[in-house]
Amino acid sequence: MELSPQDLSTKELYKLLTGTIVPRPIGWISSVNEAGQANLAPFSFFNGVCANPPHVLFCPGIRDTTNAPKDSFTNVQATGEFVVNIVTEALAEAMNATATELPASVDEFEFAGLTAVPSVHVKPPRVAESPVSYECRVVHIYEVGQQPGNGTIVVGEIIHIHVNDEIISDNFYIDLSKLQPVGRLMSSGYCRVTDLFDLDRLPPQL
Ligand SMILES: Cc1cc2nc3c(=O)[nH]c(=O)nc-3n(C[C@H](O)[C@H](O)[C@H](O)COP(=O)(O)O)c2cc1C
Repeated sequence: MELSPQDLSTKELYKLLTGTIVPRPIGWISSVNEAGQANLAPFSFFNGVCANPPHVLFCPGIRDTTNAPKDSFTNVQATGEFVVNIVTEALAEAMNATATELPASVDEFEFAGLTAVPSVHVKPPRVAESPVSYECRVVHIYEVGQQPGNGTIVVGEIIHIHVNDEIISDNFYIDLSKLQPVGRLMSSGYCRVTDLFDLDRLPPQL
């Protein structure tokens, strides 16, 4: 099958992308509005990019219910700050609860029964229950469009890192069997990081 994106509907494109670009990491983004009220939501159009200085990006879309941007986007655009929290198996249900479409006035930390801990350098709190959190400053916002199916790519620089001592070794290796991260597949599908294999890299041929 050969396909041109312009011949496909938003729904068809979404199904193709989310069914084939798998598994996707989940950035659980905490932010605050200008009044300081906290917000928390998961984004699987998300990744870490570049190691030094370390950056992340996530992509809040336009709501297909109201044509409005996500609260996370409104907040990071207004304040220039956010925190990425890592979702573990134990936190999957709470993460899912924070994806509920709620009025902007609702604090998803309270809605999902999570603990908000003050961050070191940014106003948005981090999720205490998450073993890894990255405090970020927005460095770039690229708008793809303003219709449902469009959205925005938010790039942030990581300026502070919280890691639970129990999941990291002295030489900075993360123990995945302790971290137990969750990946997103399509629709309501998720995966664990349990069926692992190694591939040694070939020596450089330069
Ligand atoms: C695992 C998961 C991943 C998601 N990824 C995205 C995403 O990449 N972009 C997006 O716009 N919405 C995504 N959503 C939906 C948002 O989390 C949802 O719309 C949420 O209510 C947005 O909250 P906010 O308005 O407080 O920012 C995802 C939901 C789940 C459960």
